[in-house]
Amino acid sequence: MPPSSAALLRWYDRHRRTLPWRALPGRTVDPYHVWLSEIMLQQTTVAAVIPYYHRFLDLFPAVGDLARTESDTVMAAWAGLGYYARARNLHACARAVAAAGGFPRDMAGLLALPGVGTYTAAAIAAIAFGQPVVPVDGNVERVTSRLFALTDPLPGSRKTIARHAATLNDSAEARARPSDFAQALFDLGAGICTPRQPACALCPWRESCAGLRQGIAASLPAKAPR
Ligand code: ADE
Repeated sequence: MPPSSAALLRWYDRHRRTLPWRALPGRTVDPYHVWLSEIMLQQTTVAAVIPYYHRFLDLFPAVGDLARTESDTVMAAWAGLGYYARARNLHACARAVAAAGGFPRDMAGLLALPGVGTYTAAAIAAIAFGQPVVPVDGNVERVTSRLFALTDPLPGSRKTIARHAATLNDSAEARARPSDFAQALFDLGAGICTPRQPACALCPWRESCAGLRQGIAASLPAKAPR
């Protein structure tokens, strides 16, 4: 049985996390907020990001405020989050977006922004602009490799996993709710399909999970020895 996007969305409607960058059900979000959160979340946990996210929006309420700020001030606000290339790209991106009068809405335009790779472009396209794309981060790679029992190790398997992940929204339900669908996958990966001891009994996809059926879910995704 293929994974039911309706079942995942039903689960999300009951169990979704309340996060400061998330819209309330049925509301839209500011692309600036989505972009800021996704850049911060690239290499940092949700718990560590939350106070920085609030502080940035206090200091820089709109992308133009960030664009106009001296880079030393931006770097100082970022201090403690790590991976400082992100902060430099963040500032360059804010300037590009402010100069263009807003965020691009399509993948090609988003991918051209500093600091925005395939994952982040897809996250912004889906969450801020409702485009039917599936952002593939580590959580989604884990969910996908287990669901389809993809046993080839990372990083070689990355493209195969992404190809399977891109099929997950192949349904009217998923395509009607791209933002919720993407964030449902994040929440499933963070709360149920966890790296160790996944809570398969609670998973809305337990009946379609090949990894669970084969008893190998917890061992996936396999990683090549380094
Ligand atoms: N990780 C990356 N983006 C996220 C989001 N929008 N919600 C929760 N976790 C995330």
